[in-house]
Amino acid sequence: MKAKLAVFASGNGTNFQAIDDAIVRGEIDASIELLVCDQPGAAVIERAKRAGVETLVLARRDFPTKKAFEEEIVHACQAHHVGYIFLAGYMRILGKAMLEAYPHRIVNIHPSLLPSFTGLDAIGQAFRKGVKITGITIHYVDEGMDTGPIIAQAAVPIKDDDTLEVLEARIHETEHALYPKTVAAILSRSSEVYQ
Ligand code: GAR
Repeated sequence: MKAKLAVFASGNGTNFQAIDDAIVRGEIDASIELLVCDQPGAAVIERAKRAGVETLVLARRDFPTKKAFEEEIVHACQAHHVGYIFLAGYMRILGKAMLEAYPHRIVNIHPSLLPSFTGLDAIGQAFRKGVKITGITIHYVDEGMDTGPIIAQAAVPIKDDDTLEVLEARIHETEHALYPKTVAAILSRSSEVYQ
């Protein structure tokens, strides 16, 4: 049975696009049932609409508590029979309501070789630090910020004549190749397709 996915994103959505494109090419045996976005107006919302994916757009400020915000999202995911959640530039730390509803079934991508350079602007942090090798990490999500067991990593060199923009493009290209492959691997080695 095909796995049913939700993708959570806050911004441009190029990783959402990479996963959806891989599904369309038949490289991931799954369907994206829902795009959850916490930033009304984010470009990812239009990408999802173009891809025919249903969207849930909601702002944290419209809810009294983080718990209430997350319960609304969990409810929508359950209503769509979502089994796995992939964060793709979703810039929020998940709380108990999400983590307990989807234990070990929420995965994040982060643009550094974790545990180095957590949080915001990880690419810029690595660039300014002058490291020669950075990269990307795909990991299970826990209650920390960019912590949780690591599933896959890829190294990305920082060349002497790189600008931040050139480095960002190299990182994103690496993400768009590795994230879909890792999604496919996670789904295929899972002994059970969660519904
Ligand atoms: C990606 O580089 C992703 O790794 C990063 O946000 C970007 C989203 O780009 N995520 C984090 O920094 C999470 N801490 P996209 O919206 O084009 O997919």
